[in-house]
Amino acid sequence: MEKEVVLVLDFGGQYNQLIARRVRELSVYSEMVPFDISFEEVKAKKPAAIILTGGPASVHVIDAPACDPRIFAMGIPVLGICYGMQLIAQELGGKVLSSELREYGRSQLTVMGDDALFKGVSLQTQVWMSHGDSINDIPAGFAITACTDNCSVAAFSNTSSQLYGVQFHPEVRHTIEGQTVLKNFLFEVCKLKGDWDLSDYIAETIQAIRNKVGNKKVLCGLSGGVDSSVAATMVHRAIGDQLVCVYVDNGLMRKGETESLIETFKNQMHMNLIIADVKERFLNKLAGVSDPEQKRKIIGEEFIRVFEAEAQKLGKVDYLVQGTIYPDVVESGTKTAHTIKSHHNVGGLPKDMQFELIEPLRLLFKDEVRVIGEKLDISEEIVWRQPFPGPGLGVRVLEEVTPEKVRILQDADYIVREEIKKAGLDREIWQAFAVLPPIKSVGVMGDARTYAYPIIIRAVVSDDAMTAEWAHLPYDLLDIMARRIVNEVRGVNRVAYDITSKPPGTIEWE
Ligand code: XMP
Repeated sequence: MEKEVVLVLDFGGQYNQLIARRVRELSVYSEMVPFDISFEEVKAKKPAAIILTGGPASVHVIDAPACDPRIFAMGIPVLGICYGMQLIAQELGGKVLSSELREYGRSQLTVMGDDALFKGVSLQTQVWMSHGDSINDIPAGFAITACTDNCSVAAFSNTSSQLYGVQFHPEVRHTIEGQTVLKNFLFEVCKLKGDWDLSDYIAETIQAIRNKVGNKKVLCGLSGGVDSSVAATMVHRAIGDQLVCVYVDNGLMRKGETESLIETFKNQMHMNLIIADVKERFLNKLAGVSDPEQKRKIIGEEFIRVFEAEAQKLGKVDYLVQGTIYPDVVESGTKTAHTIKSHHNVGGLPKDMQFELIEPLRLLFKDEVRVIGEKLDISEEIVWRQPFPGPGLGVRVLEEVTPEKVRILQDADYIVREEIKKAGLDREIWQAFAVLPPIKSVGVMGDARTYAYPIIIRAVVSDDAMTAEWAHLPYDLLDIMARRIVNEVRGVNRVAYDITSKPPGTIEWE
């Protein structure tokens, strides 16, 4: 039986991946595709419903992003969100005005009538708005189903054509009843069953890996992070000892990482695990390099080279497992996403790679990877480990990386993480770590002048790393960290706390 698929046409809005995630949280598989996907491709995917996302453009600009209008006449329910709604209005004969009043932030929505989209939603409810243009005239056959003080058409529908639009963002948590709106779209309007089940996904993926690999050999880069650990475990379940895991000890890992990885995967899970000690090789390659993107490229490329070398030692290896997850694919692949940082596990792969890839998590969001990890009985410590960037401490030692700086950062980072854990905050905090900037400052210690590095503590709360807020850590906790770092880490005389959210900052400093 065909699985239900909701296509999310990506018009470049910052919350777009959240839309796809929220749909999956409701047990419906959703896939993000570029807004200009061809009509033939849309048909081939046999979607049960289509969602048009928000985006930064105005429908009035020349070459405004638009999807194939035949999508509106397929007889498949369509929900336009923000820009997506304006596009529906514009394409079907309504009028969109560039309004003087920009509406941004929380608004009070008034629900009108009894549209299926708002079943069970309070008549007055808080929503999150982020738009300049507004719909002035709705197309023929449509009815207005909600408004706000500043927006007379905050939602509309044409029930006979199954076309729906909301000006607000149901996918963000600030829209208090947003998940109900999405649920109503999927189950009241589209009458879906909700057949996206991660246990099925595990079973199907394991079978698919078995079929694909046959009796060939597979290599996996294990970093100890959630993604590569879950990917490796899934492949191990599929093909057992045909899988060889290689851990690249590139000298840019956190303190204690190598030891705990050996304990988990070799001693407890009995996987074939090779430790490639290439610390010197990486540090030599990075010597004198200070550009963040160049550092990422070097680390990504060396990583693959090490694999190739290990693979050669093993004889013929045909496949390489990667823990690539869906956000990496979407961010690296869609036309609308700007390259802010090239995540090395996708963007920086050398073109002359000799392996075919196996990416068992390619379709999954991070929270789905964690659920799968739990279902595969991987330890809680690994499943709930904070994300760690592929290039490791290489992007946290700012500018040039040297062995001394890595040592300082590892020691400081260890203290940050230890104290976060002691305070019981490790699940609440999305990431907490230390950053070493390339500057020194004057201090005084034991009556003597010091001239040493500062450490910047970075801790953020986030849902998905697309946006993040700096964590309001208790002063007492910051105090303990700062004292310990200065006292215990040689070469540090000052500690600062980063109070920048994302945007405008990013989580990492490089
Ligand atoms: P930013 O710094 O872009 O980070 O706000 C968002 C999330 O991605 C992680 N990150 C990376 N992960 N390779 C990775 O695999 C990279 O080059 C990379 N850069 C950032 C970061 O830790 C955060 O979780």
